[in-house]
Amino acid sequence: MKILVLGSGAREHAIILALRAEAAEHEILCSPGNAGMAQDATLVVVDQLDGGAVTTFANEHAVDLVVIGPEAPLVAGVADALRERGIPVFGPGKAAAQLEGSKAFAKRIMDAASVPTGRAVRATSIANVEAAFDDLGAPYVVKADGLAAGKGVIVTSNRAEALAHAAHYLPAGPILIEEFLAGPEVSLFFLSDGDTVRALSPAQDFKRAYDGDEGPNTGGMGAYSPLPWLNEQFGSEQEFVELVTEQVALPVIRQMDAEGTPFIGLLYAGLILTASGVKVIEFNARFGDPETQVVLPRLITPLSELLLAAASGNLEDQPQPKFSDDVAITVVLASEGYPEAPQTGRQISGLADAASVEGVRIIHAATAGPDAPGGDLVATGGRVLNVVAVRSDFTAARAQAYESMGRIGLDGAHFRSDIAARVAE
Ligand code: AMP
Ligand code: GLY
Repeated sequence: MKILVLGSGAREHAIILALRAEAAEHEILCSPGNAGMAQDATLVVVDQLDGGAVTTFANEHAVDLVVIGPEAPLVAGVADALRERGIPVFGPGKAAAQLEGSKAFAKRIMDAASVPTGRAVRATSIANVEAAFDDLGAPYVVKADGLAAGKGVIVTSNRAEALAHAAHYLPAGPILIEEFLAGPEVSLFFLSDGDTVRALSPAQDFKRAYDGDEGPNTGGMGAYSPLPWLNEQFGSEQEFVELVTEQVALPVIRQMDAEGTPFIGLLYAGLILTASGVKVIEFNARFGDPETQVVLPRLITPLSELLLAAASGNLEDQPQPKFSDDVAITVVLASEGYPEAPQTGRQISGLADAASVEGVRIIHAATAGPDAPGGDLVATGGRVLNVVAVRSDFTAARAQAYESMGRIGLDGAHFRSDIAARVAE
């Protein structure tokens, strides 16, 4: 199959590696990609935000399937342009991508579909915000409405800090003040063809920048899959997945379809397991990053078949995806200053040595180069690399991942040392 993957992060690198692992004969093109993806796919140049350009490219190169990784091209309507021309594309159109693009839209869909979620108040002024804080109480949860790369949300008991966050985002439009939900978080991905869904194996993301869940929210500093502790609460992973399919995924997919905006692509349910049941904290309209890096290495079913079936409206013919019993963890290496002000352009060393650790893959998130053959790569963004370890248990996976991470050199870089620490105990 000839597959075009749009994106340049570790998520897209993980998608490419999963496609590579299932069939060596796939021809995989990627735009814009990064230095790591260049080793596993052919990098091409096409403006990923320009639906017309992507459609022309896909036609000229007889692409069988386009996979859109990040949210920006989805919200820009790139999938609509492809679908109009009959090109199979995995990713929702502009209207359906509002599930991620607008938190207020997502709340409305959840209300209409009776999906369990936290109570939320729309605020357009500081007076609204103050009233909502009084009503909902501490800790305060403030969410910017639009895309904010994981930085639009603050959760704090410090009212002044919460008010400052609200004041920062209010000029850009209405914001949401939400009821605080307590409990462990789970990321669960559903492939959807607009009608039928197929769930992948759950993962947990580590959203805060520093060990012990301290520091600011980030795009995600690490992840692991599966979540063995779900068994105690729900009997089995399968029972948990079935519950979320019935209570969350199917009602949302049906509501989107009923509104004339069918959701074709990946529905990412960000969940909190509260004392009063599973509740949705957010939806994304694409694979999660870094969760994809731990979910896909465990997938046994060929990924291309699932993505093509979803893109073509044939998911019903696909059996439930199968996963290995191995566990996977990923640790993210971030540039100095991430998430506030990442320092970029610094040299990365030790990658070959890091990749030689058994059971480990190095996945690239923001790398470029080398400028000369044999030279070093440089970091080009906040989240630079992911070390992924796949082993039979979490203790072994952690040992291998951190052994590998210790071999990578990047001045000022930081990573969390507690990824999957508790589940390993
Ligand atoms: P979001 O961008 O909506 O996923 O929010 C980012 C992170 O903020 C989530 O992963 C949670 O850790 C936290 N968060 C968001 N909403 C809530 C909430 N209502 N209660 C508690 N924590 C939340
Ligand atoms: N890991 C969080 C996200 O992909 O949005």
